[in-house]
Amino acid sequence: SDPGLVERARAAKAALGDQVFVLGHHYQRDEVIEFADTTGDSFKLAREAAARPDAPYIVFCGVHFMAESADILTSDQQTVILPDLAAGCSMADMAAIAQVEDAWLDLQDAGVADVTVPVTYMNSSAAIKAFTGRHGGTICTSSNAKTALSWAFGERGDAQVAAGTGKVLFLPDQHLGRNTYVRDLGGRLDECVVFDPHRPMGGLTREQLRDARMILWRGHCSVHGRFSVEAVDAARREIPDVKVIVHPECRHEVVELADEVGSTEKIIKTIAAAPAGTSWVVGTELNLVRRLAQQFPEQRIAFLEKNVCYCSTMNRIDLPHLVWALESLVEGRVVNPIHVDPVVAGHARTALDQMLALPG
Ligand code: 13P
Ligand code: SF4
Repeated sequence: SDPGLVERARAAKAALGDQVFVLGHHYQRDEVIEFADTTGDSFKLAREAAARPDAPYIVFCGVHFMAESADILTSDQQTVILPDLAAGCSMADMAAIAQVEDAWLDLQDAGVADVTVPVTYMNSSAAIKAFTGRHGGTICTSSNAKTALSWAFGERGDAQVAAGTGKVLFLPDQHLGRNTYVRDLGGRLDECVVFDPHRPMGGLTREQLRDARMILWRGHCSVHGRFSVEAVDAARREIPDVKVIVHPECRHEVVELADEVGSTEKIIKTIAAAPAGTSWVVGTELNLVRRLAQQFPEQRIAFLEKNVCYCSTMNRIDLPHLVWALESLVEGRVVNPIHVDPVVAGHARTALDQMLALPG
C-alpha cells in the first residue's frame, strides 16, 4: 500500500492515543488490518466493542450491521465510526423490517406465532434485531448459532418443546439456520421450510408452517453462496489428504462435504492448531484466506473456488477511508458516525444482551 498513507495512518493513530480504538473484521484488507487494535469474528468484535468503555471513538473496520451493533452495545458517550458508509452487507439487505413484520402477521394467521422464537443472525439491520428483541428472541453469530438455537428450542421454548410444537424463525441467512439445525442439533432437513418474503405467505401453506420446526428466511450470502460441491470434489481429487474447511454461510451440500465448519475465528484457530504440512482448502472470503496462507507458510492453504471471491462491501474500507476517518478525528471532526435510533436500539439491545448471556 501507499507508504505516504501508511505513515499518515500511523501518525493519526499516535496523535489520537487512547481516544480511538480500531476494530477490524477478519475479512478486511491487509492494509486496514495493520491498524486494527483488535481483529475478530462478528461475535468477538461485538464483545470487544462492549468492553471498551474508555475509548470515546471506535472506528469499526467492517460492515454496517457490525458498526450498528457496536453503537447499540457501547455507551451514549461513545461514537462508532464506519470509514465508508457504503460498506453494507447484501445478506442483511435481504430482510427489510416491513417484510419481517408482514411475515410475523402470516405466522399469526397460521396460528404459529405464539410458539415461534425469532433467532436472528448478527448480519441484519438494527430494526430486525429490535423485532427479535420485541418478540423474546435472540441474536446469534456463526460462532454461537448452535447455543442460540438450543436456547430457543429449549429454555425459551420449554412448554412448546414439551408439546412438540416449538419453532424458530431464523433470519436472514437460510444456510446458517439450516446448517446449524441439521449439522449441530441433529434436526431433519424436512423439518425446515424456506419463507420467501416476495411471495404471499412466504410461498408456504398454513400446514407447512404448522409442521415446520425451522422457518428459514430466504436470505443468503452472495460470497459464500458461490462455493460449490464441484469445487470440493475437485480439491479432494487434486490435493492428497486435503482438509476442507468452510464457513457455515455456505450451502448445505457444501457444508455436508466439509471436514470442518466454523466462524472466521474458528477457521483461523483450527488452521493455527494443525500440524505443519497439512493441506487445506478454505471456503470463506479471499482476504482472510490469503492472509492465512501468508501467516502459516508451513501449511498448504488454498482457496476453495478457482474464481476470485472478495466481499466487495468489506473491501470498501480501504486505507484512504481509514486515514480520512482518523485524520478527521485529529482535526476534531467526526465523519460517518453510526447512530441507531434510541427506541430501536433499546429493543435490539435486549436481543443482543440475550446473545451475550447465552452459555459458553
Ligand atoms: P464471522 O462472524 O464468522 O466473522 O462472519 C461474519 C460474516 O459476515 C461472514 O460472512
Ligand atoms: Fe455480508 Fe457475505 Fe460480505 Fe459477510 S461475506 S459481510 S455475509 S456479503
